[in-house]
Amino acid sequence: MGSRIVATGRAVPLTALTNKDLERYMDTSDQWIRSRTGIGSRYAMRQGESLADIATDAGRTALERAGVKPGDLDAIIVGTVSSEYAFPSLACQIQSGLSISSIPAFDVAAACSGFVYALQIADAQMRAGDFKRVLVVGADALSTMVDWTDRRTAVLFGDGAGACVMVTEPGNRGVLSSLLRSGGEYWNLLSVRSTGTRSTIDSEVRRCADDAIQMKGPELFKIAVRSMEEISRLVAERAGVKLEEIDLFVPHQANMRIISAVAERLGLPPEKVFTNIERYGNTSAASVPIALDEALEQGRIHDGDIVMLNACGGGLTWGANLIRW
Ligand code: UT7
Repeated sequence: MGSRIVATGRAVPLTALTNKDLERYMDTSDQWIRSRTGIGSRYAMRQGESLADIATDAGRTALERAGVKPGDLDAIIVGTVSSEYAFPSLACQIQSGLSISSIPAFDVAAACSGFVYALQIADAQMRAGDFKRVLVVGADALSTMVDWTDRRTAVLFGDGAGACVMVTEPGNRGVLSSLLRSGGEYWNLLSVRSTGTRSTIDSEVRRCADDAIQMKGPELFKIAVRSMEEISRLVAERAGVKLEEIDLFVPHQANMRIISAVAERLGLPPEKVFTNIERYGNTSAASVPIALDEALEQGRIHDGDIVMLNACGGGLTWGANLIRW
């Protein structure tokens, strides 16, 4: 018995900030941001908005499309590093938003790889017979964690949530294989040393530099390319799938240049690679499920297609899921 994604959903904050908007906050330019990252705009939470509400919306959409009632879920697993509080978890807040109780709901903290990690955990527990229907969410609000005077990081991140409903199913469709990796020795390449999402772009009290995202971008860039390529090869080999059999590659949207470099190394032509970084920026754990939801909406995925999800982020963490749709 395997597990299959039967529906997806996504939700974002109300406000989109373009690169031009950011030129008012710091010494940057639309030209630099587009050419170095591929980003044109991103959604950012404002005061009064809640990531728990946004993530609950994404989950509700996925459940409605799947025709699964919230009360029929067996678990909620959320990839996030942006829970509003140290605890409760974002998963428990989503559970409350969906008005359901008595099922396990928990967060997985793997930064940008959070959704890929959560999907692997859901699949493993479903194969073990623990759960039949699971809501898997990736949600983050890293715009609330940047130092808005640091142009090296503030332009990169956006907020949002993506979700999918997974059900157990016999047959050869669904998750074929997943692989997760971490490299704790690289922890200080990307870190945020205080929790919470209360500090938005319009709040009076902002994070100081020490509490904001700290990133060694160029070093991280090289490791991201290397690890995303390597994990792709390993997960495909494990599933007995050739790289040329992949119909759609759905990578974490951190930087267009990272995505292009990984795709080139894997021999994947641009039409087999899904990107939406131009409109979302780097939404951390939300990036893969938002991309997956848009790919489905745009008719880029058909029954029987081989789809690879792939991410790398703070931890460092990286991982991939190979799926037959
Ligand atoms: O989601 C987790 C995974 N994330 C990643 O893997 C991110 C990986 N890293 C990257 O994507 C890239 O390293 C960045 C996009 C973060 C930076 O791009 P880069 O080409 O590596 O630029 P850099 O940091 O080497 O900076 C080059 C120059 C610097 O100027 P100087 O010192 O050479 O005069 C920066 O100050 O570009 C400058 N710069 C900017 N200029 C205008 C950096 N950020 C900006 C900016 N606007 N926003």
